[in-house]
Amino acid sequence: MKLADQVAIVTGGGSGQGRATALLFSQEGARVVVADLNAGGAEETANLINGRESKLATAIEADVTRARDVQRTVDTALSTYGRLDILINNAGVTLWKDIDNTSEEDWNRIIDTNLKGVFLGCKAAIPAMRKSGGGNIVNIASLAGLVGMPKHFAYCAAKAGVIHLTKSLALDHGREKIRINCICPGGVLTPMLTEAIDADDPATLERVAGQIALGRIADPEEIARVSLFLCSSDAGYITGAALPVDGGIGGAV
Ligand SMILES: NC(=O)c1ccc[n+]([C@@H]2O[C@H](COP(=O)([O-])OP(=O)(O)OC[C@H]3O[C@@H](n4cnc5c(N)ncnc54)[C@H](O)[C@@H]3O)[C@@H](O)[C@H]2O)c1
Repeated sequence: MKLADQVAIVTGGGSGQGRATALLFSQEGARVVVADLNAGGAEETANLINGRESKLATAIEADVTRARDVQRTVDTALSTYGRLDILINNAGVTLWKDIDNTSEEDWNRIIDTNLKGVFLGCKAAIPAMRKSGGGNIVNIASLAGLVGMPKHFAYCAAKAGVIHLTKSLALDHGREKIRINCICPGGVLTPMLTEAIDADDPATLERVAGQIALGRIADPEEIARVSLFLCSSDAGYITGAALPVDGGIGGAV
């Protein structure tokens, strides 16, 4: 088991990639705090894990845009499991709008959730990781943080910010044995994507998959496996990286 005796927080753990990551990390021996704005989703993920044995996972309702909620999440990891080793800053929301149709509220929601949420997560987790003698943070950015995309500027700006936050913060904490990396997924088959495209239409799925070198959209577990790699000792010399996991679409856009 790659994460035996480690304690992890997964934000946005009530759905999609966050759920897949929480399940995988638990299978690899980690105790997991599943944090989500959607309390029901977080509970469901924790129940899927605790079906095997109770107390392996703890669900918490938390909004990553609120410092108090984020600190409460870290405190829950410490009070329930005694330490914190891993933070997966995964919670995110998307927006497909041009600037004429983007309100100030839209902009704030996208930047606050996708970028400020990562800042707050790192700020709360790093002191706890320091006490644990080190740790790993994986920020879920996006291919959209590496390239521009039409009608996606607010999300692209937030995710580009996540990439540079990651690279800079990694420089500050390497000597404390805290590695900080980010993943840049392309399309992943989760509610975020299926709500943005007409996923019930096979022609739409085929058109999207047709733009990808590997010819298919990612399964959430394929992103979870990369987070697992980055948090494992296999990636012991990797920090400050922005790793594209996009099936090859990045070469085309
Ligand atoms: N699906 C894709 O194609 C894709 C591609 C690249 C990057 N991403 C990124 O991957 C991450 C995971 O997204 P997903 O695809 O699993 O989507 P998803 O919509 O299935 O899951 C996102 C989760 O985040 C939670 N969330 C939203 N706002 C929150 C907040 N303020 N506080 C706490 N939780 C909140 C939601 O309730 C939900 O459970 C996101 O950061 C997303 O931007 C997704």
